Amino acid sequence: MTDLETKILELKEQNNAIILAHFYQDEEIQDIADFVGDSLDLSRKAATTECDTIVFCGVKFMAEVAKILNPKKNVIIPDIKAGCSLETSCPTKKFLEFKKSHPSHFIASYINCSAEIKALSDVIVTSSNAKKIIDQLPIDQKIIFAPDQHLGSYLNKLTGRDMLLWPGSCIVHETFSEREIVKMKIRNPNCEIIAHPECPDNVLSKANFIGSTSALLNYVRISNAQQFIIATEPHIIHQMKKIAPKKSFLIAPGQNGDCSCSNCPYMELNTMEKLYRCLKNGSPSINLEKNLLNSAKKPLERMLRMS
Ligand code: 13P
Ligand code: SF4
Repeated sequence: MTDLETKILELKEQNNAIILAHFYQDEEIQDIADFVGDSLDLSRKAATTECDTIVFCGVKFMAEVAKILNPKKNVIIPDIKAGCSLETSCPTKKFLEFKKSHPSHFIASYINCSAEIKALSDVIVTSSNAKKIIDQLPIDQKIIFAPDQHLGSYLNKLTGRDMLLWPGSCIVHETFSEREIVKMKIRNPNCEIIAHPECPDNVLSKANFIGSTSALLNYVRISNAQQFIIATEPHIIHQMKKIAPKKSFLIAPGQNGDCSCSNCPYMELNTMEKLYRCLKNGSPSINLEKNLLNSAKKPLERMLRMS
């Protein structure tokens, strides 16, 4: 164990803290975390922990969810600038106008959005539970789905709905190239292509399996295939190698045929040094105004009940 790892673990004990990490974090962060998961599992873990401090190694909207679901805890994040392109693609003012122009629509928002958008929503979904939740809504209910147009379009096909889609997208999943993925598959004919539903439709149409990060992880475990092309943020391969050590994983390529574009630039802002510093300082912490927190809590709690 390195000095830094020892210091982080000491501070964690002293602060009675739990370290939660998303699958897209650096390998060392995943390895030092108490729990590594997808957005849904991380929200559940954050809602039920009894530790005093939640160190959230993920992006800011994920840490906000932890704070909203467990507001008495000090929720800290290694780098407060760890945003998300889906969140920025849905500004509150514009979304409010959109909402007002569709007063009879029910609003289902993907968890990758700001606390303000959550507060304007009726229910929150993640890529793990979206189909299950949408299937529970009355069939004649008009629905707005925000902010991810690609996940929304995939869900429309899966559920037979005609949800109105906000035109947001993820810069990471949008950069995979269908053409380069097909070329990679031709060079590796026995491999399976697996993709996160934030990928555009043309990439999803080539996939043998589509699912949330935890569903992708489970798929590589149960599939008979020995090799996979991974069309999602590549840090998840760290867990795939652990769960299926004999199988091999190729990172889905971007337009230039390489994979340099597929790391999430926001997730990458969190480092082991910043994790150490945030535990030492008890900050940067997530603080949300009380009314905002309470309004955002309702659709999140509805999500937990429905999933
Ligand atoms: P998951 O909920 O599948 O972990 O996805 C989160 C995310 O940000 C994908 O880009
Ligand atoms: Fe947001 Fe995309 Fe990064 Fe996920 S991969 S956190 S959706 S920018």
